Amino acid sequence: MVGLNGHELINKPNKPNKLNELNKLNKLKYVMTNGDKKILVVGGAGYIGAHMVRQLVNARCDVVILDNLSTGSRKLVHGGEFVQGSLGDSNLLDRVFGAHPFDAVMHFAAFSQVGESMNQPLKYYRNNLAETVALLDAMVRHDVKRFIFSSTAAVYGEPVEIPITELHPCAPTNPYGATKLAVEHMLADCDAAYGLKYTALRYFNAAGADESGEIGELHDPETHLIPIVLKAATGQIDHIQVFGTDYPTTDGTCIRDYVHVNDLAQAHLLALDALLGGGESAVYNLGSSNGYSVKEVIGKAEVVTGKKIAVVEAQRRPGDPAILIASSEKIKRELGWTPAYENLEKIIRTAWNWHLKQILNVQHRTLNSLCSAIL
Ligand SMILES: NC(=O)c1ccc[n+]([C@@H]2O[C@H](COP(=O)([O-])OP(=O)(O)OC[C@H]3O[C@@H](n4cnc5c(N)ncnc54)[C@H](O)[C@@H]3O)[C@@H](O)[C@H]2O)c1
Repeated sequence: MVGLNGHELINKPNKPNKLNELNKLNKLKYVMTNGDKKILVVGGAGYIGAHMVRQLVNARCDVVILDNLSTGSRKLVHGGEFVQGSLGDSNLLDRVFGAHPFDAVMHFAAFSQVGESMNQPLKYYRNNLAETVALLDAMVRHDVKRFIFSSTAAVYGEPVEIPITELHPCAPTNPYGATKLAVEHMLADCDAAYGLKYTALRYFNAAGADESGEIGELHDPETHLIPIVLKAATGQIDHIQVFGTDYPTTDGTCIRDYVHVNDLAQAHLLALDALLGGGESAVYNLGSSNGYSVKEVIGKAEVVTGKKIAVVEAQRRPGDPAILIASSEKIKRELGWTPAYENLEKIIRTAWNWHLKQILNVQHRTLNSLCSAIL
């Protein structure tokens, strides 16, 4: 099927998932009533965006994905209408917004490598901030008034208290976090000036994959701990580097808070529901409220994979705080968020399932091309 300007429409039957559980609990009051909701998912060919698209399609929303595939992959798009392009392209945005009366926009598109942002700050300010100005401009022009934004724990900078609540001071220590905080400020100004209602969701460390194994984390280069550890388990890399073993933590390695990607998507649905119901703008943390050290993550991955993972100890990286753990009480209390994956082993198991499927797919393709070469 072909949609807007010849863009491809993919409609796959969807299997029941956590969303149905949400509905059973009757948590979504507006998403699935009064006809299909039309949602623009910017960055929907990326890791978290792809999981969001899946849950939105399951909720019978009409989804349009806008993505320039700079860090995402066409392989992760399993539903909705796909439009390839950048969110800074105002002409394209006018065509997309002109063709679809969107109820809301979800914005996942950004560059997000902290180290790279230190060396190439303007790349981050251009993509994460300037392009978001163009997106918000288009929303104002087309009178779309609901926005959900992927923010980050990096807006807080060095923590002064743990767990980190939304009231913690925001003092980002790198341009990546600074661009996200600048967008949050811009959103507050847009609410005051244009009545644009937004939810900024500050994710801690997203991890895991959909249980179907059809979508998962696919970054190149990969900078996140769990997929790197799993690559070491499959032999795709020889070892992993642990940056810093002299932090003031129980085993000397950094402690982070891992939240399952489908739990993040569930939080977006609840935020969407609240905005559709006339809710006010809000900012929420999204984490599991549990901290795991780098060594603990490696240990859990060894249990899940049954493989020994080779580790090389390296110097601390500048700007890595010792401990980052979220308090997510606010979103639990106000929106009824109930994460389904609070156990790290369970999260790693879903990521491992995805990794194994990827390897099987590659082997399958190699075998097929060998067979066709022989025939
Ligand atoms: N992964 C995490 O642990 C984490 C933690 C905190 C915040 N976040 C934020 O969540 C969002 C999604 O993260 P992810 O891990 O899925 O990243 P990702 O790189 O997998 O996805 C980002 C997607 O946006 C697209 N994109 C980037 N710039 C674009 C542009 N100018 N126009 C159109 N498309 C563009 C990319 O092609 C990609 O598909 C990001 O905004 C990131 O900053 C992620």
